[in-house]
Amino acid sequence: MNTIDIDQLQVELDGKNPRFILKKALALFDNIAISFSGAEDVALIDMAVSIRKDITVFTLDTGRLHPETYRFIEQVRKHYRLDIELLTPDREVLDAFTKRKGLFSFYEDGHEECCKIRKVEPLRRRLVNVNAWISGQRRDQNPGTRQDIAEIQIDSVFSTAKNQLVKFNPLLNWSSAQVWNYIEANQVPYNELHNKGFISIGCEPCTRATLPHEHERAGRWWWEENTKKECGLHVTNVAK
Ligand code: ADX
Ligand code: SF4
Repeated sequence: MNTIDIDQLQVELDGKNPRFILKKALALFDNIAISFSGAEDVALIDMAVSIRKDITVFTLDTGRLHPETYRFIEQVRKHYRLDIELLTPDREVLDAFTKRKGLFSFYEDGHEECCKIRKVEPLRRRLVNVNAWISGQRRDQNPGTRQDIAEIQIDSVFSTAKNQLVKFNPLLNWSSAQVWNYIEANQVPYNELHNKGFISIGCEPCTRATLPHEHERAGRWWWEENTKKECGLHVTNVAK
């Protein structure tokens, strides 16, 4: 892996456009992956394939996604001719969990336990084998937890003793409108649930459509308080 000065690079990337940040990330790291789930991530994939042909893309298949989302993953796979990796939960841990607590325990005692098994641990297993990853998160998605994210950061949560993991957030300064403008202008595929009132899309039991006046993440884990609306993938944002 390259030895890079994160602070210096942050100065260089500060306020730059997504493509510039992405290009730098893909040039600096061979072993780097894009974490794909939503509209933002396909915009990133669309930019990335024009920069480098051999990009690595993974998605966390929790087993609880909407049928529309599975079709969308397939559409993206075909559109960009990508071997998208579907990361699944550890079978034994999941079996023990569902045997003990069933399929909807998150409505009673919160989403952390289920998200840990279905998202966070599969992500951790994958990130051990890359030097850097790219996320589509934006600052204005969650003013409470994402306001302070940077273009580049050390991912202290998923780094290990052997692997200091770097995380890039190329879209951090874009608004939702800018993302959708890019999608429209470049005819980027998007999840058909967006035509049915969904904005931020996660697992089926934990996502609902939102009303026009609601914040875009109001439909995620809607039965919980706003402050808890992170599933653990980006816990670096809140781990100070
Ligand atoms: S979440 O933490 O609340 O689920 P959100 O849906 O806002 O995250 O997405 C933010 C970024 O996290 C995405 O741009 C993507 O990089 C990553 N991400 C979220 N969900 C997944 C998933 N199921 N698979 C892969 N990456 C994901
Ligand atoms: Fe489980 Fe809901 Fe988290 Fe999906 S979003 S992993 S179903 S708690």
